[in-house]
Amino acid sequence: MPYNETIKINAGHLEIGGCDAVDLAQIFGTPLYVMDEATIRRKARAYQETLVRAYPNSLVLYAGKAFLTTAMCRLMDEEGLGLDVVSGGELYTALRADFPPEKIFFHGNNKSEEELNLALESGVGRIVVDNLYELELLNALAARQGKKASILLRLTPGVEAHTHEYIQTGQVDSKFGIGLVGDQAFSAVRLAMSLRNIRLLGFHSHIGSQVFEAAPYQLAAEVLLNFVARVKRELGLAVKELDLGGGLGIRYLSQDDPPLVAVFLKDVVETVVRKVRELGLEAPRLILEPGRSIIGDAGLTLYRIGSIKEIPGVRTYVAVDGGMADNPRVALYGAKYEAIVANRADAPLEHVVSIAGRFCESGDMLLWDAPLPRVTPGDLLAVFSTGAYHYSMASNYNRFGRPAVVLVHSGQADLIVRRETYADLVAHDIMPERLRARGEGYLVATGS
Ligand code: LLP
Repeated sequence: MPYNETIKINAGHLEIGGCDAVDLAQIFGTPLYVMDEATIRRKARAYQETLVRAYPNSLVLYAGKAFLTTAMCRLMDEEGLGLDVVSGGELYTALRADFPPEKIFFHGNNKSEEELNLALESGVGRIVVDNLYELELLNALAARQGKKASILLRLTPGVEAHTHEYIQTGQVDSKFGIGLVGDQAFSAVRLAMSLRNIRLLGFHSHIGSQVFEAAPYQLAAEVLLNFVARVKRELGLAVKELDLGGGLGIRYLSQDDPPLVAVFLKDVVETVVRKVRELGLEAPRLILEPGRSIIGDAGLTLYRIGSIKEIPGVRTYVAVDGGMADNPRVALYGAKYEAIVANRADAPLEHVVSIAGRFCESGDMLLWDAPLPRVTPGDLLAVFSTGAYHYSMASNYNRFGRPAVVLVHSGQADLIVRRETYADLVAHDIMPERLRARGEGYLVATGS
């Protein structure tokens, strides 16, 4: 604590964005994702302003996979960022929010024809092409629409970032991108240049996520710029854009110490500028795609505590009304969090307990061995740094509705995603005609 500057303790209650967490839980229910607008804007500005100052020919894209809703698109647009989307659904969300299409970059390692057509029709700024199959498909689709698609090629620079292996992507053995080792990338450039409905503007790489050092980015930048020089020398193509992806880490635990955005950017920009000069290149536009480091610590999740199971001499399980469906990161990556009791936020920590979810799996745990005050059913638990990859990765496991999302700002709380209802859960179910004989169901039969 504090994870962001608006998180405070006031009269024993946790406060975020000027709102009392106990009030938020009462008004909006639990589990509840709470996102702080001031932090989101501050982080977006830290990227935008520092990068533009250090390297004017640049663009920051917010990586929507971390957390995307129409309100989030609007915030990013207001802050002047572009957007990285990875699916028709994310693209549709952005278009529904009137996000300027020319500032959208469309990623993905297996985009469908339908998605590529939507991207072309809506005039997205760049399509980041992942592989040769996509390159030829996109050329054909663009030809059919009478358009020329502006693309970046996604390359894997062979750099390993020190992070969980599932969120590491820049190494040679990855499902993403075209390998720089061997001649694959070079052949892909040659192919792209020969295709009539493709305009190759540059290269992209993303080395991983929750990365705490600038060094692997500096290495990736050097590798890519060497390739840019080769492409210029041997094919005469002046590469205009270099996108180094996202991945800067955030603090989940008090002892985590990620670099400040400004420090990280300074290191990366210095390398790019030096390398461009050394190689005698025209300086390309520099693009970054942060997700987690913009939204991660702006968010927290509120849960209501329910059953408490003490196993003498073993441990105490404290169950909350959410778990792996709203936070799959513990089960997936072994992620660790910190939490406090939001309604007694200044009470002494006198107990070590483990926080369990309410889903039908033993692996459904949120925290192991968390120091907390003595808790009773009805207490409110806040888990910090849940802004990124929580709502966006949430599921309906066990047929629980996904939680609501509230945006807080200077004491005001606005619902930006409403909680899913039981009706939402069956909304897509279809009863085949031959099974309908017994009527329409309990709620209809009882008139409820
Ligand atoms: N650009 C590309 C091409 C990406 O694949 C990603 C993340 C980003 C940008 C944004 O990375 P960020 O700045 O948010 O680290 N679900 C995992 C993280 C998966 C990251 C996927 N790609 C987690 O919960 O840790």
